[in-house]
Amino acid sequence: MSLAITNIGSLVTNDPNLGIDILGELENASVVIEDGKIAWVGNSGSAPDADQVIDAGGMGVIPGFVDSHAHMVFAGDRSKEFEARMNGEKYSAGGIKSTVTKTRAASDAELEANFLSLQNEMIRSGITTFESKSGYGLSVKDEARSLAIAAKHTSETTFLGAHVVPEDYAGKADEYVSLVTGEMLDACAPHAKWVDVFCDVGAFDVDQSRAILQAGIAKGLQPRIHANQLAQSGGVQLAVELDCASADHCTHLSNADIEALAGSNTVATLLPGAEFSTRAAYPDAKKLFDAGVTVALATDCNPGSSYTTSMSFCIAVAIRDMGFSPEQAIWSATLGGAKALRRTDVGALSIGMSADLSILSAPSFRHLGYRPGVDQISQVLKSGKTIYKHQDGN
Ligand code: NIG
Ligand code: FE
Repeated sequence: MSLAITNIGSLVTNDPNLGIDILGELENASVVIEDGKIAWVGNSGSAPDADQVIDAGGMGVIPGFVDSHAHMVFAGDRSKEFEARMNGEKYSAGGIKSTVTKTRAASDAELEANFLSLQNEMIRSGITTFESKSGYGLSVKDEARSLAIAAKHTSETTFLGAHVVPEDYAGKADEYVSLVTGEMLDACAPHAKWVDVFCDVGAFDVDQSRAILQAGIAKGLQPRIHANQLAQSGGVQLAVELDCASADHCTHLSNADIEALAGSNTVATLLPGAEFSTRAAYPDAKKLFDAGVTVALATDCNPGSSYTTSMSFCIAVAIRDMGFSPEQAIWSATLGGAKALRRTDVGALSIGMSADLSILSAPSFRHLGYRPGVDQISQVLKSGKTIYKHQDGN
């Protein structure tokens, strides 16, 4: 069964061999999908016949967004904390603990319902691959069930037992690290692909973070890290030392951090929603691009520091306030995210890649930054199947 998407005004392939510049952009294009994968890309006029046709009506088509950083297993919200911040309070890692209390009290069914509601929001925002962390359970039982829920809906699951030291271990950080690297890791590893740690002020220091990531690696998990969100925490250097797939946040970077990232396989994942929602200064992505660092953009969807599932919003902020060009922003939200998850099957529309894409209600990807806050995702396909279609209602 083949499907052609024809009459595409602007197609982003992320394959420079197929079109112009890093986005491999093609105008007046068609895509043919077979068995859930991209089988043909080229000019509409020369497209081969297919069993089914979707006419894109001259609108833009982009690869599905790859959201490499989200925290989707939790209960409750922290809108009052957000309000207080907007009235001048400072963000601190401590707020995580209030979500832990609510998460522990919630049933599996409640946690899964909240997860699915966020997943639906993500799909409507054009996200076709997403990662989700644990990190609001912080007990053996609650971390393991958080990951079991996430693993039902994504293969990109991350054990974040080391989010903060929970209240019940207050003043006993070393004991908590032993729990995380021992019994908790044993219970969580079967449901997780990745291990993560919040290496920052008010969370875990570099030595504790190293011990946690190394324990995860020894259990077969791959490392990634929350680094340098609140200070130059040493987390970025640790990420490079341990060949983490990604160092996430990177809000406070020294020149040495940027040099270390540039000479590594570690992606810098920037999270505009977090700086936006905590009123923090944005990192300068231009410095990273100029140094040759691979950069991803992700939502960081979580109830505390970035309660958004909108990648288009993140793209608009990245362009407006973080020094991304529109091309760099779309690349980072698609192929950059795939690289941050070390995935080679998503993030681009090259021949053989998974047919994960969005048809826009706009003529090209440029409108994502140009029309901030406007929903321009018209139809979303994953593995060649429509998983969302905007209904007009009028
Ligand atoms: O990625 N930085 C650590 N973790 C989350 C925030 C968690 C929270 O405030 O609930 C983040 O921003
Ligand atoms: Fe996070």
